[in-house]
Amino acid sequence: MIMWHHKSKLTSCLVVTSLIAVIIGSTFLFLTSPTTPPPVPDKPLYLDASLPITERVSNLLSYMTLEEKIGQMTLVEKDSIKKLSDISDYHLGALLSGSGSKPEENTVTGWKQMIDTYQAEATQSRLGIPLLYGSDAIHGHAHVPEATIFPHLIGLGASGDSELVKKIASATAVEMMATGVNWNFAPNLDMPQDIRWGRVYETFSDDPTLVTKLGAAYVQGLQTAANNTDEQLQVLATPKHFVGLGGMSWDTSLNKNFKIDQGVTDANEALLNEVYLPPFAAAIDAGALNIMVGLNTWGDDRMVRQKHLLTDVLKKQLGFKGFIVSDWYGVHEGTHNTFWATTVAINSGVDMVMLPFDYETFTRQVKWANRLGLISDARIDDAVSRILYAKFSLGLFDQAGSTETLTTIPNQAHRALAREAVAQSLVLLKNENSILPLKTNVRKIRVAGSAANNIGKQSGAWTIEWQGVDGNWLPNSTSILAGIKEIANKNTQIEFEEQALFSTDSDQADVGIAIVGESPYAEGWGDNAKPSLSDEDLTTIKNLKQTSRSVVVILVTGRPLIITDEIKDWDAVVVAWLPGSEGAGVADVLFGTKPFTGSLPLPWPSNINQLPITINGESSNDSNVLFSRYFKLLY
Ligand code: GLC
Repeated sequence: MIMWHHKSKLTSCLVVTSLIAVIIGSTFLFLTSPTTPPPVPDKPLYLDASLPITERVSNLLSYMTLEEKIGQMTLVEKDSIKKLSDISDYHLGALLSGSGSKPEENTVTGWKQMIDTYQAEATQSRLGIPLLYGSDAIHGHAHVPEATIFPHLIGLGASGDSELVKKIASATAVEMMATGVNWNFAPNLDMPQDIRWGRVYETFSDDPTLVTKLGAAYVQGLQTAANNTDEQLQVLATPKHFVGLGGMSWDTSLNKNFKIDQGVTDANEALLNEVYLPPFAAAIDAGALNIMVGLNTWGDDRMVRQKHLLTDVLKKQLGFKGFIVSDWYGVHEGTHNTFWATTVAINSGVDMVMLPFDYETFTRQVKWANRLGLISDARIDDAVSRILYAKFSLGLFDQAGSTETLTTIPNQAHRALAREAVAQSLVLLKNENSILPLKTNVRKIRVAGSAANNIGKQSGAWTIEWQGVDGNWLPNSTSILAGIKEIANKNTQIEFEEQALFSTDSDQADVGIAIVGESPYAEGWGDNAKPSLSDEDLTTIKNLKQTSRSVVVILVTGRPLIITDEIKDWDAVVVAWLPGSEGAGVADVLFGTKPFTGSLPLPWPSNINQLPITINGESSNDSNVLFSRYFKLLY
């Protein structure tokens, strides 16, 4: 009896175990088995450039396997690619150079050869779908030495000139295409209400009216070449970051290293609609086919999981027909279950995920989620159709890898444009006794300051490296000091000493020019509880005052600085923002070759307690700012 009992128990265990094995095995097979690729004719319709893009998209989609579709939704940082063949094996749709990620040889040729290699790998696959290749050319293609480095957007905001912005975006696109980069993660449409944030200089202004105007101009300039006859786009624009990053509150960052970047947006939906959405609506009207979701949190969750805003508002209410891309690691950062994070973000409306690392896991998990019915075929087809629509609009299928751009880098016409932009970006805040513009017969000028002879400092971050560079080594660039020497009258004596340690027994200079300001920073690394001049800069200005009859202070800065106590000792003050490679543009205005025309693109607080300052210029404490938005001293 006992033997029989044991035997029957053993048998039933074996039966149950094998049943479990069969279930696991068949589930595994169900989840992972590859889909059979539909046959493709020799000349499929999607390669016919004469057809409407929507027809080309649906034709191509009809040939795609699930794996090929998921690959299009995958954006990988190029240094995360384990082997070149992974591009075709995983059917990747897009690569990026994160800021600072460069080819071995950081030259125009080096970039072109690197991207052409990637494109060749992608287009030799079954369906030959070309890659999008993205970079942050947010103030020119500034990761490439010899490219033109334009003023950061805050300076263009100070110019207020949409035609200038359009020309700069177009010139940026032309230099990008010379290197094979066809996607620019710009323009930044954030509207900062708190200048303690490390991304103020990446934005035009805190005023939605101005940001709406300049953002649309940037999208048009980047995507549509000046002499463009057909509707083919040249470089894909990415209005970012959707939505409301400018309204993040201090001390709410989810990143323990930061204070406000990646923080919580304190704005209800009515305020989002009134202030933060209009620039995106205008960018869509201007032809934007891609929008990047921010790393901020709104309400109870991160923006990448806000289905109402991404799908109901952006795609349905604003009629956005392009594709939504998530920002760096934003879908998975801080989550414990990457499968569920992926599923929720894609179902919320994210069409392409800037991973940017683990493409094996991501593609596998999306496939499982689809097989389990958690991400529908319709959602995947919608995402891929949006991505393909952008690729066809760029003409990638009709010229992939073969774009020989007529421009060369360095480009003298673009440098002249950048120099004009620098001049238009300067804002005159103070000018006692009309010192400025400097008289042509000025006898002696003493120049000092940490930003006087430092291209890296005057360019800011997102230049060669993510956090920028220091020093004067960038080719084809002019420091502000070099510009002063170039423009000044030949009879004017010019002395330079960085800390203004001029001998006090020599005769005083007519004018001392102190060129001071912030060292480069990017994103949360620039979050600063009290943006102000360093003690070194303040000492330099004091030294200069002792050896000059009057002192002009030039602020090289990405944002307003707290200068309330010091400005009374300065005779003249000019904000130069972050001018980029053409420092001579500053001298053009200092010496009167060009006029001061710029105005403040955002309020200049007199103290930190006034922050944040709302779009209506109200401050939670006192709104007695040092200078109001759009201030410029008439002279
Ligand atoms: C960064 C930024 C975003 C940029 C992206 C790619 O985290 O938030 O503005 O475009 O990563 O570099």
